[in-house]
Amino acid sequence: MADALPPSSDPSVSGGLYPLSPSLTREGGGGFNGSRIWITGASSGIGRAVAIELAKRGARLIISGRNKEALFSLQASYPQAIEMVLPFDVTNLNANIAAAQHIKQKFGGIDKVFFNAGASQHMDIENFQSETFVEMMRINYFSLVFGVEAALPLLKASKQPHIIGMSSMAAYHGLPMGEAYSAAKAAARNFLQGLQADLKDQGIKVSIVCPGFVATPLTAKHNFKLPFLLQPEQAAKIIVAGMQKYKAEIAFPKPMIWAAKALNWLPSSLKIVLLARTKHQVQAKNSRALPEV
Ligand SMILES: NC(=O)c1ccc[n+]([C@@H]2O[C@H](COP(=O)([O-])OP(=O)(O)OC[C@H]3O[C@@H](n4cnc5c(N)ncnc54)[C@H](OP(=O)(O)O)[C@@H]3O)[C@@H](O)[C@H]2O)c1
Repeated sequence: MADALPPSSDPSVSGGLYPLSPSLTREGGGGFNGSRIWITGASSGIGRAVAIELAKRGARLIISGRNKEALFSLQASYPQAIEMVLPFDVTNLNANIAAAQHIKQKFGGIDKVFFNAGASQHMDIENFQSETFVEMMRINYFSLVFGVEAALPLLKASKQPHIIGMSSMAAYHGLPMGEAYSAAKAAARNFLQGLQADLKDQGIKVSIVCPGFVATPLTAKHNFKLPFLLQPEQAAKIIVAGMQKYKAEIAFPKPMIWAAKALNWLPSSLKIVLLARTKHQVQAKNSRALPEV
């Protein structure tokens, strides 16, 4: 069945308007049965695993990313749940707004948005380039701000509005070689914390996701052992359980989170020695980057 909606005027969202599935009778709703949920960064890693977990729980999904092949292939595996594929670049404000318009036309509104898209890049102190910081802010922070601008009007029309934003364990403390990434993830966490209070009166819940290490293409570039590494499916179950409870912060795995938070309690002189030593150990293992999660 061809979709009746006209194509977007924005070429970056031209790929995907797909028909509603006739069947919404799915098993194991788990609180998501019939919920209209938009997931960015769903073409791989954590976003893909969360999309699958929510598909199994009866959600009505809109999935985004830039890799159309990966998105359509995921849709082909869950055709009943994944009702729309919207490929676009999240760092483009107009593309975010165009994508939200498509969702409004088709679904009338949205109940939950998981702003998950992101990327990591390490910083080389011997070749300091501010461009790395600009890029990290665009993909990990401004994409979130643009997405919220685009999705807020749709969320306001929902009876159970919920924003879920991806940050990271790296947001808890600045990391050597990870300055650009951890600063952007800290900005994302700060922004979401502000929203939690700002949107309270409107009944819009906001959850902040702060994972430790998850085995995805993002972490695959690290050629050393990542502590407490989770598989994307494990991370997805934790995130979805947190979404179901509208948790303010979905942070995991606990040992990594305690370690990251404990850093802030140490005297600065000790922290600096510890972080510098960790950096040297990582470099000694011929790594190209300090863990950026
Ligand atoms: N893996 C970890 O250990 C870890 C830990 C903490 C936080 N995180 C965060 O979790 C999120 C997901 O990462 P992941 O580990 O699952 O890595 P991943 O597999 O590389 O997934 C990143 C996703 O973001 C999308 N994306 C990247 N740039 C985009 C752009 N400009 N426009 C639209 N989509 C874009 C990618 O889709 P396309 O390539 O199709 O565009 C992909 O679907 C990220 O925000 C990451 O920072 C990851």
